[in-house]
Amino acid sequence: MNRRLNLARDLISDRRRFFLQSAAWSIVPYISQILPSVVLAAPSFSSNPFTLGVASGDPSSDGFVIWTRLAPDPTDGGGMPPEVIPVQWSIANDDKMKDVVQSGATVATPQLGHSVHVEVAGLKPDHWYFYQFRCGDAESRVGRTRTFPAATVMPDKLKFAFASCQSWEQGFYTGYQHMLKDDLDLVVHLGDYIYEYGGKEKKPRKHIGNEINSLVDYRNRYAQYRTDEHLQSMHAQCPWLVVWDDHEVDNNYCSDISEEHSFDKDLFLLRRANAYQAFYEMMPLRRSSLPKGPDSQIYRSIPFGQLANFHMLDTRQYRSDQPNGDGNKPLTDEVFNPQATMLGIEQERWLCRELIASTGAWNVLGQQVMMARVDRMEGEPTAFSMDQWAGYDVPRRRLLSFLEERQVPNPIVLTGDIHSNWVNDLKVDFNYPDSKTIATEFVCTSISSGGNGIDRTKNHAHILAENPFVKFQNSQRGYTRCEVTPNQWKADYQVLDYVETLGSPIKTRASFLVESGHPGAQLQS
Ligand SMILES: [Fe+2]
Repeated sequence: MNRRLNLARDLISDRRRFFLQSAAWSIVPYISQILPSVVLAAPSFSSNPFTLGVASGDPSSDGFVIWTRLAPDPTDGGGMPPEVIPVQWSIANDDKMKDVVQSGATVATPQLGHSVHVEVAGLKPDHWYFYQFRCGDAESRVGRTRTFPAATVMPDKLKFAFASCQSWEQGFYTGYQHMLKDDLDLVVHLGDYIYEYGGKEKKPRKHIGNEINSLVDYRNRYAQYRTDEHLQSMHAQCPWLVVWDDHEVDNNYCSDISEEHSFDKDLFLLRRANAYQAFYEMMPLRRSSLPKGPDSQIYRSIPFGQLANFHMLDTRQYRSDQPNGDGNKPLTDEVFNPQATMLGIEQERWLCRELIASTGAWNVLGQQVMMARVDRMEGEPTAFSMDQWAGYDVPRRRLLSFLEERQVPNPIVLTGDIHSNWVNDLKVDFNYPDSKTIATEFVCTSISSGGNGIDRTKNHAHILAENPFVKFQNSQRGYTRCEVTPNQWKADYQVLDYVETLGSPIKTRASFLVESGHPGAQLQS
């Protein structure tokens, strides 16, 4: 009860801040007109303002977003004065930043936590670049990023990794330490980048403060995570495509419904506005994802030439409530509710349009919750996760039927959320295991959530026996690395022995192949 009261009090004080922010956002497009009178010229720093490093993301064939945030005191509000601060940026062909090909100036505003998002354009396609920020007498580290191939080109190869779920408290980011050596074109992050919970004792690391609610809370939490050297280095290494899952706001929330169902929806939307704003501030996202109050569009398509088209999805902001009160339950009538939605009407229509128009040889759905309908209980009764697509049977069938009927080329579903590795053949009707496989689902485990992990949990054997479309399941920590060519998709499941202490080695636990035109994964011997 105390926690609830504290939460309400924090949120009510946030309501005032929220309206102030709404007003502030409305001036952002006009900021260049007022610059001369408000910009703090050539600031001087007594400590490094670039403590959170640099990042890049959402590449196009002629550019990308480069990101940083000024925060000399990152986990305690940032430590910046409430001023508009000029920031210079440059793009070069070399890591010494000698051969500069483009440069410019922008501003870091207090309204957006002194974050900096520059959408660079006019560069060469399919090309690696380096970038750096400068502010007064301070310089950021140099980041490395790339443009994607032109839309008319079929690239030979794409090498990327996807990852999710990086609870600060439950382990170290050794996965990123190894990923750094993988020579990747791209990282795809499927959410649970932060967790909202308050700090607990006797964990490998400890969250600062209580459960987060206010904008400052969320900013501090992201900053704490981003102080990790391996995470920061991986952001500086190559571009990322990011989407959120639930813990960027609140465990298992749905649209305006908190995990605690009785919680006031307006207050929850205020919390969501804080969370979405902090996400935008900390991620290399384009201006199209700038939040408007409690809403932010992060679904988008990003093509890698004609080789792969990444359709990044949001299964949290628009979905209907989980049926049967969430949890693992049998498939009751509620699961077959024709009104239920996972993506919301607009996003689902957008996705269908994108899939029809796509020229990608591989069509990737980068999303959060498992699409395969997995029975988790041995024998009777059955139990399916109501938070996953299994709980949303009508929209799940509609999407998979669409992929089949429209013959969308090579659909690949990338999933996070559940802190375990899976490879699944996706069917319209899982009641008929021999029915046609429509798409292949690769589920990556967590970077750190869940602690050390284990190769096989005690229900491993019955999951494989009762769900014949599941080709692989493993519960260690790590990430999945993919090598994609026009003819073949290869997924390497990279697993760590432990994450609760530093220094674990990594190994490829299993590799799976999908041949173009033949949905379904084959274990590579
Ligand atoms: Fe998670």
